[in-house]
Amino acid sequence: MEKLIIDGGRPLNGRIKVDGMKNVASAVLFASIVTRGVCTIENLPNIKEVSVTLDILRTIGAKVSVIDESTVVLDTSSVENVHVPEELISKIRASYYLAGAMLARFKETEMGFPGGCDFGKRPIDQHIKAFRALGAEAYTDGEHISARAPHGLTGAEIYFDCVTVGGTINAMIAAVGAEGMTVINNAAREPHIVDLANFLNTCGAHISGAGTSVIKVRGGELHGCTYDIIPDMLEAGTYMVAAAATHGSVYIDGIIPKHISSISKKLMEMGVNITEFDDGVLVSAPNELKSTNIETMPYPGFPTDMQPLMAVLMCLAKGVGSINETIYDDRFRYVEELKRMGAHINLLGSRRAEIIGGYPLTPAAVRAVDLRAGAAMTVAALATPGRTEIDDIYHLERGYSDLVGKLKSLGASIKKIDYTNL
Ligand code: EPU
Repeated sequence: MEKLIIDGGRPLNGRIKVDGMKNVASAVLFASIVTRGVCTIENLPNIKEVSVTLDILRTIGAKVSVIDESTVVLDTSSVENVHVPEELISKIRASYYLAGAMLARFKETEMGFPGGCDFGKRPIDQHIKAFRALGAEAYTDGEHISARAPHGLTGAEIYFDCVTVGGTINAMIAAVGAEGMTVINNAAREPHIVDLANFLNTCGAHISGAGTSVIKVRGGELHGCTYDIIPDMLEAGTYMVAAAATHGSVYIDGIIPKHISSISKKLMEMGVNITEFDDGVLVSAPNELKSTNIETMPYPGFPTDMQPLMAVLMCLAKGVGSINETIYDDRFRYVEELKRMGAHINLLGSRRAEIIGGYPLTPAAVRAVDLRAGAAMTVAALATPGRTEIDDIYHLERGYSDLVGKLKSLGASIKKIDYTNL
């Protein structure tokens, strides 16, 4: 068992480089199953989510060569349709891409239910709907996923009833293994969707429209390739908020500024100075911040994954702000933890929070209740003079590579301790 010990109240200053995007890394790794070839994947983040994905791929017979901490060579030619232990599948959310990839390759899949952060209900009915549209008999009982298409998959029109990142990705992966043209309507438009399409197209797929709400996929044979994952806009956003919350000045390197546009604009509304460069952004906050209102939306709207971090900034800002969470039913569980640090937040139902800024935060013993909640608690601790301890940090390790090292390099006093035997 590990926790973070943070002596906060120091401005973060310096430069950090963002790693590859968590939310596409696993999608690309699972999609490599469909290629039956050798893929070299570069700029992978060094996070638990990726190591679990590689463990799953090894279990089904892929040859995985780890070249360095951000590069793997995957040979999926010898992959077999074997059972993966449910305990492994349930460690991450992205494991559901195994279903789309196995269905595309073997026309059959049977697996446990994915895990990931707990935000209340996270159904996968739209994934099942997509598999069925392609001609598979597909079911889930909330504990297992099964899909089989004994006569093969056939290209079809898929209409999503809600905008779903995972559903869009799974539909794209499965559709590559279908005969003919698939049209995915009401598709998610996140940069990760575009990146997965670029990976598949580099492997010989014919996908157009990724980044719009209508994606066309023509099925066909794929081959291996070398591919570089795009930078993680949410890791970038996390360090942007950390710089602002500590009134520091941080240059965040290796990003695609367009991807963080909604985050930059909100921070600017709050009084944060943002200067964009070709592949970097300089964030500083010399002055007092003012609060704002946020409504989470699918891309290009404000990302739900950034709302816990923005809540911390709003606690530190002047005035009353609000967050309207439109994506998930139960994403305010971190509020209890922030309240332990003296935050003044009123929950108005399960999807709306009113944040009364200007009350100083005080150090406390808190928990990371999920991945981005853990990042939010880390930023709160960095901005708060005194010693804060954050427990349950395994959530953070699923999604942030070298968080402690990167924050230390910016001048933070932060350490991780193992208290298992204390
Ligand atoms: N939804 C359905 N049915 C479905 C699929 C989704 O009703 O079949 C609903 C969900 O319940 C939710 C909404 O649609 O209310 C959006 O869910 P989506 O499918 O877009 O989310 P996801 O694919 O499960 C990914 C990221 C999340 C991120 C969301 C939204 C991964 C592994 N996870 O989840 O990332 O919050 O998209 O952008 O890519 C994180 O990084 O911290 C994280 C939680």
